[in-house]
Amino acid sequence: MCSTERSTWRSDWARGAAGLMGAIAAAVTSRDIRCMWYDNILETIGDTPLVRVNRLAAHVPGTVLAKLEYFNPGGSVKDRIGLAMIEAAVEAGDLQPGGTIIEGTSGNTGVGLALAAIARGYKCVFTTTDKQSPEKIAILRALGARVVVCPNDVEPEDPRSYYQVARQLARETANSVYLNQYDNPANPAAHVRSTGPELWEQTDGRITHLFVGAGTGGTISGCAAYLKERNPDVQVIGVDPYGSVYYKYFHTGEFDDDEIYPYVTEGVGEDILAGNMDWDLIDDYVRVTDRESMLMTRRLAEEEGFFVGGSCGMAMAGALQWMEAHGDQLDDNSVSVVIMPDGGYRSLGKTYNDAWMREQGFLSDE
Ligand SMILES: Cc1ncc(COP(=O)(O)O)c(C=O)c1O
Repeated sequence: MCSTERSTWRSDWARGAAGLMGAIAAAVTSRDIRCMWYDNILETIGDTPLVRVNRLAAHVPGTVLAKLEYFNPGGSVKDRIGLAMIEAAVEAGDLQPGGTIIEGTSGNTGVGLALAAIARGYKCVFTTTDKQSPEKIAILRALGARVVVCPNDVEPEDPRSYYQVARQLARETANSVYLNQYDNPANPAAHVRSTGPELWEQTDGRITHLFVGAGTGGTISGCAAYLKERNPDVQVIGVDPYGSVYYKYFHTGEFDDDEIYPYVTEGVGEDILAGNMDWDLIDDYVRVTDRESMLMTRRLAEEEGFFVGGSCGMAMAGALQWMEAHGDQLDDNSVSVVIMPDGGYRSLGKTYNDAWMREQGFLSDE
């Protein structure tokens, strides 16, 4: 570059810089400028991204989108219900300042509650089962909660079950509340207020199908209630793991004890009928084996870059299964959303661990 060119460049730069400084000064004095920080961690919950599923859904009609709930600060969809259930308990007079929150949780609800408890000054005691990843239990303890690990392989009515231990702890602990996410109306209400409207707005009202794996039923019922209020034609399809009672109950109305057997997919399916499942809002139900769920979870990471947990693979496998079987109900204008409840870090020791996958028989030895 010759010296004249360089000086021309310099004077252009100087003019540009002066213009830029003027723009910054104008912005700084403008009343429109807003602080780019949040007052506490709870304000960062929600507004999670909706991302197109490109490779895995290339063969089904329309647009398929994943709602990536691991973008929440506690890493799951359950962050949305923590504060909502605490506020409802305070409003009902069931929780006083400095009190203790007690809940049975597969892990994620506990994280959501722990975040809210830290911000609002409560203590937490959680019961969980020995089926849950050690990572989830470690996170709860890192957030200051006391965690009681209960056997998974007992009846819900057994005093050792994580449901009953939570109830017992609530009876024994002064100024405590058992939030019971299974029957607590503040759980689905949080999704009516946040997840449902986000799905509607992010798709500009074009969502036609929603696929959700249900545990307590809060996510599926709350989202369905909101979306069907906006457009009664939106189809809501539940996805269940084999070993849970929901699939058969939906299709036959029968609660069949023979459907209950151990499965490894975490956070979804139940051996009880949660009060928060609003069956009238669900249009169809499919089910998925643990093997399909775990393999699909790995494909979501490898082929889409979604580093998600096992219930996400289950929801996506169920969604694709339904879309492949119901191609006649889909077209180029279909917009299908699959809820991805949590992220992959909590599954590093299991789903993303080849040795564990082989032990379970989900990967062959080569
Ligand atoms: C990983 C995971 N996926 C899905 C769900 C199901 O959500 P819901 O309880 O709202 O039905 C949960 C609930 O704990 C979960 O932890």
